Amino acid sequence: MRLRRGRGGVAPNQPAGPSPVDDSTEGGEARTALAAYGLGVRFGEVVALDDVTLEVAPGELVAVSGPSGAGKSTLLSSLAGALDPAAGVTGRVVVAGSPVRPCDAREATVALGVSVVPQGNGLATVLTATENVLVPLLEAGVRAPEAIERTREALAAVGLEDSGDHLVEELSGGQQQRVAVARALAARPRILLADEPTSELDHANRELVLALLSELAAQGAAVVMATHDLEAAAGATRHVVLDEGRATSEA
Ligand SMILES: Nc1ncnc2c1ncn2[C@@H]1O[C@H](COP(=O)(O)OP(=O)(O)O)[C@@H](O)[C@H]1O
Ligand SMILES: [Mg+2]
Repeated sequence: MRLRRGRGGVAPNQPAGPSPVDDSTEGGEARTALAAYGLGVRFGEVVALDDVTLEVAPGELVAVSGPSGAGKSTLLSSLAGALDPAAGVTGRVVVAGSPVRPCDAREATVALGVSVVPQGNGLATVLTATENVLVPLLEAGVRAPEAIERTREALAAVGLEDSGDHLVEELSGGQQQRVAVARALAARPRILLADEPTSELDHANRELVLALLSELAAQGAAVVMATHDLEAAAGATRHVVLDEGRATSEA
């Protein structure tokens, strides 16, 4: 699974982040935005991932499908440095050329330009939609006027321009999911890990979110999306299937 079909492109703007991935080197890890090598993850007796190797180049949108419990979320969490520290891990994760720990390394991966749309959204329900997008930008050091503008743009991009003042707990599941997508996009990530980002969406909003992820990849980001939606997976540049922790096929 060492494909490097992605195009290099203009890296998304990343104000506080590192310089763009060096995509000029032929071959080798330098062309890879994100990679797992021989990644194994166990929770006690449960093998969540078994010797998974995946390289994602800038410009790729990789769909990861597979049944519930196949290891999709575990893979994305490992790549984000956000894996449960109780896990036993073998193998390596490399983000933007830097080795990162699969557990307890979320700060490091944020600094490397990784944004996440977690399964279940991960929003603060007692904050408004706007606050959920804005606060992480301010925390990342984006100046207030720009952060406000990016928040407005990101909520508009997911069709929630009129919902910014609503508390998240007042929004529907689908609206909450779109806020989580907006929050990730507003960070202008070089790498986006989206865990079932369309699971709650109706047809039109699903198309909208998939188009936004494709657009981000076309701008040079590396995007990995876990999904049960095979139609969505078919629209990706690559489709990896997980089964009981093993990458069984690639379409
Ligand atoms: N934090 C955890 N503690 C114990 N078991 C876990 C944990 N996270 C995942 N698992 C187990 O690992 C396997 C893979 O889970 P997961 O990655 O969430 O699958 P998927 O996202 O494909 O549904 C499942 O058997 C799940 O129960
Ligand atoms: Mg999952």
